[in-house]
Amino acid sequence: MVLMVLAFVSVLAKFALLSTFPELRMMETIGFIRPGTSSTMQQNMVSEGGSNYLTQIQEGSSQTRDIWAPPENANYYQCINRSKKEFRNGTATNGYLLIRANGGLNQMKLGIGDMVAVAKLMNATLVLPSLDHKSFWTDPSDFKDIFNWKNFMEVLRDDIIIVESLPPELADVKPRVKAPVSWSKPSYYKQQMVSLLQKHQVLKFTLTDSRLANNVATSIQRLRCRVLFKALKFTAEIEKLGMKLVDRLKNNGSRYIALHLRYEKDMLSFTGCSHNLTREEDRELETIREQTPHWKHKKGSTARSRDT
Ligand SMILES: *[C@@H]1O[C@H](CO)[C@@H](O)[C@H](O)[C@H]1NC(C)=O
Ligand SMILES: *[C@@H]1O[C@H](CO)[C@@H](O)[C@H](O)[C@H]1NC(C)=O
Ligand SMILES: *[C@@H]1O[C@H](CO)[C@@H](O)[C@H](O)[C@H]1NC(C)=O
Ligand SMILES: *[C@@H]1O[C@H](CO)[C@@H](O)[C@H](O)[C@H]1NC(C)=O
Ligand SMILES: *[C@@H]1O[C@H](CO)[C@@H](O)[C@H](O)[C@H]1NC(C)=O
Repeated sequence: MVLMVLAFVSVLAKFALLSTFPELRMMETIGFIRPGTSSTMQQNMVSEGGSNYLTQIQEGSSQTRDIWAPPENANYYQCINRSKKEFRNGTATNGYLLIRANGGLNQMKLGIGDMVAVAKLMNATLVLPSLDHKSFWTDPSDFKDIFNWKNFMEVLRDDIIIVESLPPELADVKPRVKAPVSWSKPSYYKQQMVSLLQKHQVLKFTLTDSRLANNVATSIQRLRCRVLFKALKFTAEIEKLGMKLVDRLKNNGSRYIALHLRYEKDMLSFTGCSHNLTREEDRELETIREQTPHWKHKKGSTARSRDT
């Protein structure tokens, strides 16, 4: 299970050691990749597309030396602390919110960030999220397997109420099941969804990807950032294995680049891009695309999507 999550190393194209690279930023950069995809396709891309580039790196032209310098911070600074008036007051709740995150790990993380914000907007009690078990790689892991759930509850304690599961008296209540409208404004949640919640006590959102607009009040944006940068930490087991890999890379004498090419069957079939594929490979991708119902009906809405 942990290995599944960490299989992303298959695409680490190690050119050389970058000894000053901060571990955590590297973890973010790598992203996550389905196991078993360290295909020759990827290796070919690196060697075909990157040969001139590699030569330049080895020769150390001034242009390529810049790549290894710490990036320009443009005077940005972290701005995720809550102001005094944003602290949660009391334990009043409009009801319980169950969420089923959907998509890959990164998409689920963004979705969970949105749903914490939604729980705040609705004054709802959030039950620990459940994760997607049906997408391409059918990973059976759940929230507690991947994330440090105690940290999640602790970091957000002053923002919203989070519980591990529904209280016994509501365990038998049939939740009102709802797929919230994509890119909704806060008012959609504060009005329509709060009415539904108050009526049914338990509301279950079956999709979490891109359900809240990007433009929201600063306090809500800060909350999303707190979720992603502080609340959603991986379990100690996963962090430990990740750090082990980073240490190996850092201590092996040369610089490295981590690539997440996403040049994989599911992504290629989703985009419909068949550049440089043989006719048979193209047909194989078309079959995958046709067999995945939610890719079919996503047609035409991609312009507004932020995840592809
Ligand atoms: C945010 O809060 C943390 C912990 O209380 C504190 O250490 C940090 O200085 C704060 N950052 C800003 C920018 O206020
Ligand atoms: C919480 O209470 C404090 C003081 O009673 C108040 O200043 C603050 O606005 C309240 N916050 C919210 C989110 O209602
Ligand atoms: C949530 O609670 C705050 C006070 O803590 C209140 O001002 C706000 O109107 C409530 N919002 C909803 C949607 O119930
Ligand atoms: C270190 O790098 C060498 C070649 O550059 C490679 O053969 C070896 O497997 C690497 N060791 C580790 C622990 O990654
Ligand atoms: C893929 O691209 C390479 C390099 O441009 C070319 O030699 C090869 O014939 C192409 N393959 C296909 C199947 O189009």
